[in-house]
Amino acid sequence: MIFINRETELLELENIAKLSEKRLFTTLIYGPRRVGKTELIKHASKSMHSLYFFVYEGKTKESLLKEFEMELKEKGYIDKDVGIKDFDSFIRLLFRVCENTRIIFDEVQYMKNVYPAFFSVLQREIDENQQKKMHFVFLGSIIGLIKKVFEDSKAPLYGRMKSSLNLKPLSYKNVRVFLKKLKYNNEEDFIKFYSVFGGFPKYYTAMHDFNLEGEDFEDVIKYLFFRDSAPLRNEAVFILRSEF
Ligand SMILES: Nc1ncnc2c1ncn2[C@@H]1O[C@H](COP(=O)(O)OP(=O)(O)OP(=O)(O)O)[C@@H](O)[C@H]1O
Ligand SMILES: [Mg+2]
Repeated sequence: MIFINRETELLELENIAKLSEKRLFTTLIYGPRRVGKTELIKHASKSMHSLYFFVYEGKTKESLLKEFEMELKEKGYIDKDVGIKDFDSFIRLLFRVCENTRIIFDEVQYMKNVYPAFFSVLQREIDENQQKKMHFVFLGSIIGLIKKVFEDSKAPLYGRMKSSLNLKPLSYKNVRVFLKKLKYNNEEDFIKFYSVFGGFPKYYTAMHDFNLEGEDFEDVIKYLFFRDSAPLRNEAVFILRSEF
């Protein structure tokens, strides 16, 4: 697995981890689709106690709660025979059993559809548990929704984020580093790929995953996007649908 750069962000998260050894800390990481939010937090949390809760857009309350419960069981935070009856209990439980842990909610904006009261219950618990040694990290990709949940002054979690990180695409310099690892060596190739993929690591990772290292630019594009069974055939539609 290739991991490029993000040195500033990793350092920032490391510093926050230290701060959260003393009191509760909250971080919002947001940025466009495919920019590398999930990968960044997973990379940064490898060597620490962490819980990862992924919020699926179309899931029912019950099935999502079951998944969250599984994560707590698998990581040994609760016994196998414990059942969590609702999201309010889940949130309260987190504050009881998850000290010294980084608690990550990915695609958190969708929680608004699954269980709208999630944010206000969380707000109350965050306010009441400031002394707990915990680090909450919220990841979100749809900027409009993220603003509604965190930045609207009427939103429950408004002003509750102690740090926030707007993750940007990789710079041209870092894309060059990525492409060199993928066996490209000339500036013309760097420019061609960067002009189509920009700084979004997902597409360079796909070149690696599908063994396209060093292949001709046009062939890579055809393989990934334009054949009938191209792995990223629906990518543009997906991005447009989810961002707008
Ligand atoms: N710094 C990086 N170096 C190399 N590859 C990366 C890096 N960041 C992300 N990737 C790869 O790019 C792809 C997309 O990253 P990731 O899933 O983290 O993006 P995301 O911002 O969470 O996207 P989404 O909004 O779709 O969930 C993944 O395959 C990941 O492995
Ligand atoms: Mg993600």
